[in-house]
Amino acid sequence: MDTIPTFMTAQHRHCDDSFIATESAVSASNWIQADSQWSVFTTDLECHLQQEETILFPAFEQATGMTMGPTQVMRAEHAQMRQLVAEMTQALSAQNKDQFLGLSETLMILMQQHNMKEEQMLYPMTQAHLPDAAAVLQQVKAY
Ligand SMILES: [Fe+2]
Ligand SMILES: [Fe+2]
Repeated sequence: MDTIPTFMTAQHRHCDDSFIATESAVSASNWIQADSQWSVFTTDLECHLQQEETILFPAFEQATGMTMGPTQVMRAEHAQMRQLVAEMTQALSAQNKDQFLGLSETLMILMQQHNMKEEQMLYPMTQAHLPDAAAVLQQVKAY
């Protein structure tokens, strides 16, 4: 059965797949493929970030009383990710390969570090502290 850590971690891996596919397509100047993979990535990523910001983080904050702790750091990193994604969308529409790949390296590092913190700390703590983790996971899935 899914738990918050297993379900959310699978989403990270899923986003990684379309992100890497976009990078490969851009490297090969396959712009049609790059556009379609980028659109999958940005849609899935934005949905994931919103699930965290509107359901998971508030549930964590309510259950632990920690409103200025890890969730604030995660929200700030989401803002950095969104900024990079916006710049990359522009680079992609300009078919600027060097700019896109430079930014994608930065976003990849940021996402890896961010996801590791969530997978190793925030998701397990959320699962452990919520009075009804299964119900919160249902809300996430229905989002
Ligand atoms: Fe996150
Ligand atoms: Fe996440």
